[in-house]
Amino acid sequence: MVHAVHTAPLLALFALGVAGGATYSKDCSVPNTGPVLTSCASQPAVYSCENTAPIKDTCCSPTPGGLVLATQFWSTYTGLENKKQKLPKGAWTIHGLWPDNCDGSYEQYCDLSRQFDPKPSPAKFPDGTVIPAYKGPGRRRHQRVSYVGQFSKHATCTSTFDVKCYGPSYKKNQDVINYFDAAIRAYHLFPTFDVLAASGIVPSNKTTYSLAQFERALAAQFGTTPYLGCTNNGTVLSEVWYFNHVLGTEQYGSYKPLNSTSPSSCTKTGKIWYYERSKNSEQEVRK
Ligand SMILES: *[C@@H]1O[C@H](CO)[C@@H](O)[C@H](O)[C@H]1NC(C)=O
Ligand SMILES: *[C@@H]1O[C@H](CO)[C@@H](O)[C@H](O)[C@H]1NC(C)=O
Ligand SMILES: *[C@@H]1O[C@H](CO)[C@@H](O)[C@H](O)[C@H]1NC(C)=O
Repeated sequence: MVHAVHTAPLLALFALGVAGGATYSKDCSVPNTGPVLTSCASQPAVYSCENTAPIKDTCCSPTPGGLVLATQFWSTYTGLENKKQKLPKGAWTIHGLWPDNCDGSYEQYCDLSRQFDPKPSPAKFPDGTVIPAYKGPGRRRHQRVSYVGQFSKHATCTSTFDVKCYGPSYKKNQDVINYFDAAIRAYHLFPTFDVLAASGIVPSNKTTYSLAQFERALAAQFGTTPYLGCTNNGTVLSEVWYFNHVLGTEQYGSYKPLNSTSPSSCTKTGKIWYYERSKNSEQEVRK
């Protein structure tokens, strides 16, 4: 299902792979990009942020950054339709996979040697130091979400994507590809569109819904309430963040959904629009 949401990161991946000098064998076999986890079997199996003893091997469990957010967008058009960038019919889109600290605070752009974001946001660290924009090859000018930007901003702060976790045979940008795969896997755990639709909540430019309706439908499947984000003073649904603790790595481990630690930005009492996509802004990708 939902191949278009695969396509965007994969395109970015190949753009970067080629530019970054990664080699793909001529027979198109796909190299393994996963980390080396041989030492993890001897570590205690605990969910991130629920450990009582310090995590010894940070390649085995996201540390800090153990409050893992799988984030998605709802938007009605891309503005890049003439560049053939449309939205996937019947699906929300991937924003990223973020490492919040257990208390909800977070770090960003943790390793400037892996900075591929052409437009860092924020532009500066809290101490005022400018985050240098990526000016190297492989930049995609027409892209709504910079997936390599998501890597540089978030994966570099997630210990299980640290370069050392890939062992002595680490290949340049292997961690970038591995992050995209992990973000896609986490995205598939939370099929927002289908779960809402199953409760009769479908995009409409005629009917509004309440925050409680959205939350009830999602909680009925995931057992917890994600963060729902709205624009236009809380009246237009635009994003969802699923909070998790993870046992093992973000790449392969088990995700345990948690209630959101941030209050929704959507109106608690008013009407919320879950708008239909614009005409010609969607494409069928479920084949
Ligand atoms: C935003 O919403 C609040 C209540 O939800 C309302 O009191 C306020 O007037 C609204 N502001 C604007 C600019 O519409
Ligand atoms: C999530 O919140 C709901 C409603 O407030 C509560 O009933 C439930 O116990 C919470 N679940 C977890 C895992 O904290
Ligand atoms: C529904 O409304 C949104 C927000 O105004 C707009 O972007 C979208 O194009 C509309 N969709 C249709 C099918 O009219």
